[in-house]
Amino acid sequence: MLVLGIESSCDETAAALVRDGHEVLSSVIASQIETHRAFGGVVPELASREHLRNIGYVVRQAFREAGCRQEEIDGIAVTRGPGLIGSLLVGVSYAKAMAWATGKPLVPVHHIEGHIFSAFIENPGIEYPLLALTVSGGHTSLIHAPQPGRYEVIGRTRDDAAGEALDKIAKFLGLGYPGGPVIDRLARDGDPRRFPFSIPKISDGRLDFSFSGFKTAALRHIAEAGIRPVRPGAPVPQVILDLVASYQRAIVDTLIGQARKAEARLGPRSLLLVGGVACNSLLRASFRETFEDGRLPARVYIPSPAYTTDNAAMIAAAASPRFSGSPSLDLELNASAGLPLVG
Ligand code: KG4
Ligand code: ZN
Repeated sequence: MLVLGIESSCDETAAALVRDGHEVLSSVIASQIETHRAFGGVVPELASREHLRNIGYVVRQAFREAGCRQEEIDGIAVTRGPGLIGSLLVGVSYAKAMAWATGKPLVPVHHIEGHIFSAFIENPGIEYPLLALTVSGGHTSLIHAPQPGRYEVIGRTRDDAAGEALDKIAKFLGLGYPGGPVIDRLARDGDPRRFPFSIPKISDGRLDFSFSGFKTAALRHIAEAGIRPVRPGAPVPQVILDLVASYQRAIVDTLIGQARKAEARLGPRSLLLVGGVACNSLLRASFRETFEDGRLPARVYIPSPAYTTDNAAMIAAAASPRFSGSPSLDLELNASAGLPLVG
């Protein structure tokens, strides 16, 4: 089973060839970071144009690196949503056209299901029921999958996503874009106990998240400590290192706290940490420390950084089990910016 995956939901144009859901023959990613850097965030209209410019090249490159031809694939998988509508449309239209031209089946994939399957690439034997903490620039949620293809969203952010919260404060402090990796690096030299952040209580029993209060608290600390944004190329003062370390610690503690409650409630066999923020070194270490203490029966899976941020290998992996029923080409298939995860 050889599947071409295509992903274009945000600011990465990606294509990958994956055999049997886990053997990655190629995974090509054209990043738009340089295009959006000057704006400190993704500009949707520019993102769509970049996808249009890159998609043909990226798909051809994926075939070249895998050393195979279009006729050899068994199907095409594409991210249908959620994401930026203009960006999604480029991938979906390209995939539909290619499926029509080659006569290959096309399977639409939910982006979050793709992130969950990123863990299966390196560990095809992951057992259900599973619980996935999905943390990225656009999403933060706890997903319970009692069996393959069935998903229950048991917690989600009520405001910002975790990555968005990191990116926004980094932008405000002039630390660069995207902020998540910069804060990850700078926080290593900071004191996470210097600035207090109180973790919000969610009292209705849901395992939701809220990060906007941390942003407000960070802005208050910045004002009270008289912190000024860092000028490009200038050294980052200790007070900012301490602030970002404290801020990152609060976000990670919130994520781990809710994941811990979900684990206790559901008792899954597998615990997954996925999405772009799963690259974060403190989050990776805390997740392992919390759940690999020898007392829990669940096994922990965290993908390599290459598969945590947006990529097309995870989209091909997620679609692979669905090609066995020979899906026919649905020319009505359309992108969906707010596609819900159901199953
Ligand atoms: O999954 P992803 O590539 O795209 C979305 O689906 O949103 O995630 C991108 C997010 C950005 O917010 C970025 O700052 C964050 O992942 N990120 C990190 C790290 N690497 C990427 N956040 C914290 N620490 C990192 N090392
Ligand atoms: Zn993503």
